Amino acid sequence: MFIRSDFLPFSRPSIGPEDIEGVVAVLKSGWITTGPKTGEFEEAFRRYTGARFASSLTNGTAGMHLTLMALGIGPGDEVISPSLTWGSTVNLITLLGAKPVFAEIDRQTLMITPETVQRVLTGKTKAIIPVHYAGAPVDLDPFRELAEQAKVLLVEDAAHAVGTEYRGRKIGSSGTAVFSFHAIKNLTTGEGGMVVSDDQELIEKVSLLKFHGLAKDAWQRYSRRGSPQVEIITPGYKYNMTDIQASLGLTQLAKVDELNRRRAELAALYDRNLQGIEEILHPVPPQYPHAHSHHLYIVLLDLDRVTVGRDDFLSKLKERNIGTGIHFRAVHTQEYYRETVGTGRGLLPETEWVSDRLFSLPLFPFMQDKDVDDVCGAIADVVGEVRK
Ligand SMILES: Cc1ncc(COP(=O)(O)O)c(C=O)c1O
Repeated sequence: MFIRSDFLPFSRPSIGPEDIEGVVAVLKSGWITTGPKTGEFEEAFRRYTGARFASSLTNGTAGMHLTLMALGIGPGDEVISPSLTWGSTVNLITLLGAKPVFAEIDRQTLMITPETVQRVLTGKTKAIIPVHYAGAPVDLDPFRELAEQAKVLLVEDAAHAVGTEYRGRKIGSSGTAVFSFHAIKNLTTGEGGMVVSDDQELIEKVSLLKFHGLAKDAWQRYSRRGSPQVEIITPGYKYNMTDIQASLGLTQLAKVDELNRRRAELAALYDRNLQGIEEILHPVPPQYPHAHSHHLYIVLLDLDRVTVGRDDFLSKLKERNIGTGIHFRAVHTQEYYRETVGTGRGLLPETEWVSDRLFSLPLFPFMQDKDVDDVCGAIADVVGEVRK
């Protein structure tokens, strides 16, 4: 049996000396919450994506919460999203009192399409939230046409898409997109998020809602040039990014393209090494021009060819010191949505087929080529054991 000498996690942040120095400088500066670094990071990220406006937050979930809230999503509205996503998006639709409606995915690309969205569009649909999955972009142009025709809002879940391009333009360069800088993301601030948009009013509302609904944040109140008066304009939350996070964001942003290039190399190596293993299936990259950010390397286990289920297969990889992830278990099959919203198995056959089979292999820029060989060696070993 092939066993790697030490455990290889499925992800690890790319923290270098420049990230550490930047954070230490902020810690020593006397100003550690929202302040000049946060403003600098917002501006740098705005420029990087080509967006017109940007607002940073504690995490991507907070960004999606305030975006949906600022757009007026609430009771009586339906919001369409994939079920193959991280649960936060669907939870937020629910928490805002709206009804989550799931669109089916394309089994090849693992993403919802304008056609599958069209099937569940009703007079009550207020917004569509496509997910740029694993680092590939959805086919944005037809999504935009559909949204315009149906007079519904389009909010892109860009949690996996820092650096992703669609037809030569970065995700976030137009429209409204919500990014995540969670620890495993291509660019991390530990936890963090950013809403970018060409809608100035939306970004202003998000910025207001993220800090108690106050007209001024702490930097504007307590810094030398600030004034301590406050005014609540609307009741808001406390979702502001700190300068500690923003410093990390700035140093990470400076190298994210290089990090993404390394991700692409590792992904290509996986493609080559896994080619002969028929039990492992691969998603098909979108056929329109795009640049993939390789946030996740997703494969599917061909259950017709093996004697175990996906979860047992992953346990066997773990026994060989290979970590994996599941991105994602379909949201509509999870307890709350089954029991309260009345969704469940049978609703989305393609999503369920994928959700039962998919898993993510280790992929992070500090990995060595040898690590990929180890993962593929372990997969070949397990496949040899469980082949029908
Ligand atoms: C597809 C997707 N959407 C939204 C989020 C939420 O982002 P955050 O963890 O920053 O709140 C995540 C991830 O973690 C995600 O993977």
